[in-house]
Amino acid sequence: MDLLTLELPEFRKVASGKVREIFDLGEHLLFVATDRISAFDCILPNAIPHKGAVLTQLSQFWFEQFTFVENHVVTTEFDDFPEPLRKLEQELKGRCMIVRKAQPLPIECVVRGFLIGSGWKDYQSSGAVCGISLPPGLQQADRLPETLFTPATKAATGHDENITWDRCVELVGESVAQQVRELSIRIYEEGRDSAAGCGIIVADTKFEFGLLDGRVILIDECLTPDSSRFWPASEYRPGISPPSFDKQFVRDYLETLDWEKTPPAPLLPESVVRKTSDKYLEAYERLTGHRLPGS
Ligand SMILES: Nc1ncnc2c1ncn2[C@@H]1O[C@H](COP(=O)(O)OP(=O)(O)O)[C@@H](O)[C@H]1O
Ligand SMILES: [Mg+2]
Repeated sequence: MDLLTLELPEFRKVASGKVREIFDLGEHLLFVATDRISAFDCILPNAIPHKGAVLTQLSQFWFEQFTFVENHVVTTEFDDFPEPLRKLEQELKGRCMIVRKAQPLPIECVVRGFLIGSGWKDYQSSGAVCGISLPPGLQQADRLPETLFTPATKAATGHDENITWDRCVELVGESVAQQVRELSIRIYEEGRDSAAGCGIIVADTKFEFGLLDGRVILIDECLTPDSSRFWPASEYRPGISPPSFDKQFVRDYLETLDWEKTPPAPLLPESVVRKTSDKYLEAYERLTGHRLPGS
């Protein structure tokens, strides 16, 4: 069943983001990925079938793989959920996790392996990405000589803002900054190498960490099409901006319209919705090696 919004009368909603609805279960949080999709920073009116389940189960796949980092998952087993939730099997099964309440760090841990997006713009004007100098002569979408950690602040509204390493240290302290830098680079590089074997390039990605009893743990989602830039390896070549693995059809369609890219966003045609759903499922299948249960 597609899901766009969710209310649970028994539980307080603590947050509703672009994609997730988060509820307070007492000791833990219920972390629900809906089927909402955003493009150009606007939430679109359509649900993308299976998208929420792909985000949740792909994150879980990676969390299990990266045993060197503690993560926020308590359980993704629907049968272990508390009683009032189990009557909502249709709505919830496959798309939720119960997670530990962490104190989210006030930074987004962005990791870049390829020169694209704001990194490419920065390089063209300054020869550096977020203050990190790079050799001259690199092209758009080139693989970077080394993985870059380029943290940003979480903007309550609008775009996140890149920050320097010194500012990152000011915000979270030297020890935590070092830890999240090392963890972010390691998770990205292991994920990138694993995805490369499945024909997917992970150009860049974003992680969030939180503090729990003084320890740094990985929270939110992990190496999904929403938190990362995935490119089909078959269409990659430096010098152009490669198509997005998952959002390509949505962006291409929206570009044909006379829409100002401000809310309200237009309705997507059924063919675009279906093709986009198929791409999310394909990303899941390629990366995990099996079909999404129930798809
Ligand atoms: N374990 C956790 N404890 C507390 N907050 C969390 C946890 N995991 C994720 N979050 C927060 O939940 C939100 C995720 O919802 P999402 O819809 O992805 O929001 P956004 O639109 O900000 O990306 C983020 O603000 C993130 O910081
Ligand atoms: Mg998010």
